[in-house]
Amino acid sequence: MTPTPPLSFEPPRGMRDFYPEDMLWRNRVFDAWRRAAVAYGFQPYDACVVESLELLQRKSGEEVSEQIYHFEDKSGRKLALRPEMTPTLARMIAARQGQLAFPVKWFTIAQCFRYERMTRGRKREHYQWNMDIVGEESVSAEVEILAAAAAGLKAMGMPDAAYKIRVNNRALLAELLANSGIASEHHAAVFLALDKRGKIPDEEIAALLKAEGLGEEAVAKTFELLGVQTLEQAAALAGAGSPALATLRELFALAETCGIADRLVFDISVIRGLAYYTGIVFEAFDTERKFRAIFGGGRYDSLLTTIGGAPTPAVGLGFGDVVVVEVLKDLLGETAAAEKSGVIVGYMFPEQRDAATRLARTLREKGESVDLMLTRQKPKQFFSRAGASQAASAVFIGPDDVSKGAAKLKNLATREEADIPLG
Ligand code: HAM
Repeated sequence: MTPTPPLSFEPPRGMRDFYPEDMLWRNRVFDAWRRAAVAYGFQPYDACVVESLELLQRKSGEEVSEQIYHFEDKSGRKLALRPEMTPTLARMIAARQGQLAFPVKWFTIAQCFRYERMTRGRKREHYQWNMDIVGEESVSAEVEILAAAAAGLKAMGMPDAAYKIRVNNRALLAELLANSGIASEHHAAVFLALDKRGKIPDEEIAALLKAEGLGEEAVAKTFELLGVQTLEQAAALAGAGSPALATLRELFALAETCGIADRLVFDISVIRGLAYYTGIVFEAFDTERKFRAIFGGGRYDSLLTTIGGAPTPAVGLGFGDVVVVEVLKDLLGETAAAEKSGVIVGYMFPEQRDAATRLARTLREKGESVDLMLTRQKPKQFFSRAGASQAASAVFIGPDDVSKGAAKLKNLATREEADIPLG
């Protein structure tokens, strides 16, 4: 009989296992996301990771539509693992459109799946913090989302100087393209082509634009637009009365009031790879641009109608857990998430097990987290385990401590000791 080949201990390609040391980072990020969302008045929502394929699949040539993990259930329903949360959110809003008090501010932490080419910062599964404001037209919604995202970054220990949020307005690009004689029916395809800049050679982008029907001159003009660096240069092309420019100016002014303007920059090359954005779009990067985008989002005022809902303005962001952890580890060190807390309790002989268990019980009842050793240990063995553990302090109980009715609580960082009663 041939022996069964051993199973691989690796997870499927692109999927991640989270060992306890990985969970320290994940919890740090998730906690920061939740705290920031709640601090900014967002309400939690959730949905199943399995969605109907029809809702997710758009025929716009977006990369994300081609990356969907899909399957048929036993009854032949075409289903998929969601690659993003936004279509599900739109569906949930549309289902209750008559009952909701708009604007709604909702957040979730959603696991998403994309069959991606694996590169740094790209996995086939990731968690994404989504915050969306649905039912608000004014740029106050964009600024609220950006300020909440900045609060999230602060809460996870990211210095303000370590990142920049690059902001653009697709409506501005649309105005500029129209001024260059490129008709609006081409704009969506032009946006998706221009979003590939830096990912594929310019000649390939030019070929995509030509395939969309743009002539040689229109292609040249389109590339020229991406050379615009400042709002003043944009104003010179779009005209002082440009509504899209006014929106951008309003956003930057309100960001000043919110205290986040130092991290915002105008960048006409930020377009985003999803077809549904209609206005302001943004992406955050580490200041040195060593990593991929930390988060991205924007305004999508037509998505609700696309799926059959009533016209409803919306803006939101998706902030993944992969890149931000890479950036934080690079800035703060691999072990930065391992903040120590709680007490580790051990004992020397079986006779002290009761005293150790009682102490653990008392401390736990007071709300302290306690890692109680399950067997007797030699002092050296115990303190070596304690040093490697997540505990901030340690109590090791020997026969003398029990007769004295007190043991030593040792701070594992400073080595300071204090008496702790064993009553
Ligand atoms: P997105 O730019 O496709 O937007 O994804 C948002 C963020 O999710 C990215 O900036 C990145 O942090 C993370 N992300 C995406 N794909 C991967 C991957 N394969 N591996 C690791 N991280 C990834 C959206 O998904 C929009 N639905 C966001 C949104 C919400 N717009 C409005 N509301």
